[in-house]
Amino acid sequence: MRLQNKVAVITGGSSGIGLATAQRFVAEGAFVYVFARRQEELDKVSKLFGSNVATVQGDVKNLADLDRLYGKVASDGKKVDIVVANSGFVDSVKLSDVTVETFDRNFETNARGVLFTVQKALPLMRDGGAIVMTSTIAALRGFPGRSAYAASKTALRSYARTWAAELKDRRIRVNAITPGPTDTPLIDAQVSSKAEADQARAKHAANIPLGRMAQPEEIASAILFLSSDDGSFVNATELLVDGGMCSI
Ligand SMILES: NC(=O)c1ccc[n+]([C@@H]2O[C@H](COP(=O)([O-])OP(=O)(O)OC[C@H]3O[C@@H](n4cnc5c(N)ncnc54)[C@H](OP(=O)(O)O)[C@@H]3O)[C@@H](O)[C@H]2O)c1
Repeated sequence: MRLQNKVAVITGGSSGIGLATAQRFVAEGAFVYVFARRQEELDKVSKLFGSNVATVQGDVKNLADLDRLYGKVASDGKKVDIVVANSGFVDSVKLSDVTVETFDRNFETNARGVLFTVQKALPLMRDGGAIVMTSTIAALRGFPGRSAYAASKTALRSYARTWAAELKDRRIRVNAITPGPTDTPLIDAQVSSKAEADQARAKHAANIPLGRMAQPEEIASAILFLSSDDGSFVNATELLVDGGMCSI
């Protein structure tokens, strides 16, 4: 029970990596606030975790929604120990085809959304807390079509350094988690058929030294490490969880 009596906020906690993290956090004793846009997915989360979870519907692009999220935490009389800023948007647009709209779509969710998710949590955060942001190996390696996505996620590594410096008097640790290809609905969202999704999964698996994609639970374990006392001296850095893909 590594998170006994802890309160966590997880954006994008209704699917994939965020959902697996919420599940693990609840199993480790935490009370979890899950924030995402689709109410029907949030309803499933409520059914799954019962009284150990509260859901708030909203969009990280919308500052008023984030105010509502933390307003709910405050009105429940709770403080926040852990923020997992995990909501993300990905698309594949070659440099020659990037438009202001496609550029902004990535930065609004991945870079701006994470900044305000964390900024607005700070008044409610306990000293000694932990912040984890979900980056991607696309921020470390060159992949065609990822101009805006990769650049927007690269901001998170920078945030970890800056915010760890700003929050050091409060002993709040700030880290990024950097997953390799992980088997979540995000893979399906980037293609238009099941056949294409199967192809994408096989291609990812072939590029990873371990010969398979990560399961969301494996990324959740690493997020738990960074969020709990197990990672008590890990600060201002990123943890690569990629099956060796960036190194071999
Ligand atoms: N899967 C991978 O291979 C992989 C690899 C590296 C990094 N990542 C990163 O991991 C994170 C989680 O991805 P995933 O693979 O778990 O994807 P996923 O299964 O599609 O989950 C994404 C979650 O984020 C929520 N979300 C998306 N946009 C949002 C917004 N604007 N405001 C609030 N919530 C939002 C989604 O719910 P709603 O749609 O209902 O809002 C959902 O709960 C992302 O940041 C992604 O970039 C994924």
